Amino acid sequence: MAIQAPAARPANPRFSSGPCTKIPGFSLDMLSDAPLGRSHRAVIGKAKLKEAIETTREILGIPADYRIGIVPASDTGAVEMAMWSLLGERKATMCAWESFGAGWVTDVVKQLKIDAETKTADYGDIVDFGTLDFNTDVVFTWNGTTSGVRLPNGDAIPANREGLTICDATSAAFAMDLPWDKLDVTTFSWQKVLGGEGGHGVLVLSPRAVARLESYAPAWPLPKIFRMTKGGKLIEGIFVGETINTPSMLCVEDYLVSLKWAKSIGGLEGLVDRATANAKTVWDFCDARDWIANLANDPATASTTSVCVKFTDDRIKDGAAFAKAVAKRLEKEGVGLDLGAYRDAPAGLRIWCGSTVEQADIAALLPWVEYAFEAEIAAQA
Ligand SMILES: Cc1ncc(COP(=O)(O)O)c(C=O)c1O
Repeated sequence: MAIQAPAARPANPRFSSGPCTKIPGFSLDMLSDAPLGRSHRAVIGKAKLKEAIETTREILGIPADYRIGIVPASDTGAVEMAMWSLLGERKATMCAWESFGAGWVTDVVKQLKIDAETKTADYGDIVDFGTLDFNTDVVFTWNGTTSGVRLPNGDAIPANREGLTICDATSAAFAMDLPWDKLDVTTFSWQKVLGGEGGHGVLVLSPRAVARLESYAPAWPLPKIFRMTKGGKLIEGIFVGETINTPSMLCVEDYLVSLKWAKSIGGLEGLVDRATANAKTVWDFCDARDWIANLANDPATASTTSVCVKFTDDRIKDGAAFAKAVAKRLEKEGVGLDLGAYRDAPAGLRIWCGSTVEQADIAALLPWVEYAFEAEIAAQA
């Protein structure tokens, strides 16, 4: 019997895990207030950057005594800047449960050559935070974008820790509650949950992280774009919008537009609710079928943004080729773009469920996933 294609299609087939789909109703006209061709150090440029910082604080509920800086090179730039500036004062604990976390381990162990204990878990699982020594500096990724496994909360992080916690939260910020009192350094980029642009990173520092910056100078040289102190004092200007180098004012405007949208849908609570409802739509779909499952083994750790699924049907002959063929079919049909699992992750699909995605589009995509699955099973035979 011929397999029937679903009648309905997602209005927006963009499910990429970064850059993620723009805010609903986005158009380039919305950026017309960007001060193009003006200096980012002019009054208007500085005002835009400051607004971006302060609206970020307001929506994410970041405490008033935490510094927020816009830094070069997207989330990677923010994480590198933090690790190169802060680590080495004491032992580090490096946590990884997917490829981005693993990348930070490589940097610290092989490049910086810091005395570090490495804690890893396989794709689908998470490091047990109850076993970590928080008197060391602990580096981790809140949401593993390539495995779809996230920390459920920060309860295991002690309030009276002596080390710093350095958290790559790029696929978590704006879609998940982050416990600021447990995070000394938090990083993210604009291209994820808010559907902004690549290139710019955000670095959030607790007072303890600032104290470390002002009391400790690493033994290695720091390039200009990593330097946050001068003469042993924090360069405060960075944290009010005096960026280290030139930002794109077009991307800043785009971020401001996304932040305004975020406020209009109820701020953080609205953003979290949208991602959770999207992810639940995928979870329910998987629970009701025996040929597809969430890659996250423990539902408590299942991501609400980068939802990763695997095909579990034992008729599948070559798992990697099968998953690629399903993703290719969805792309060819124009119903689901950029759904393939990350190159280093187990075979499957990764369906971005972040807050800019409409639940109706997830609901319309899933019957197509079933259709593509059946079509590829048939194609194998
Ligand atoms: C957890 C995590 N860290 C870092 C990155 C790199 O982000 P960027 O390209 O914004 O530097 C990504 C991108 O997907 C990510 O998911």
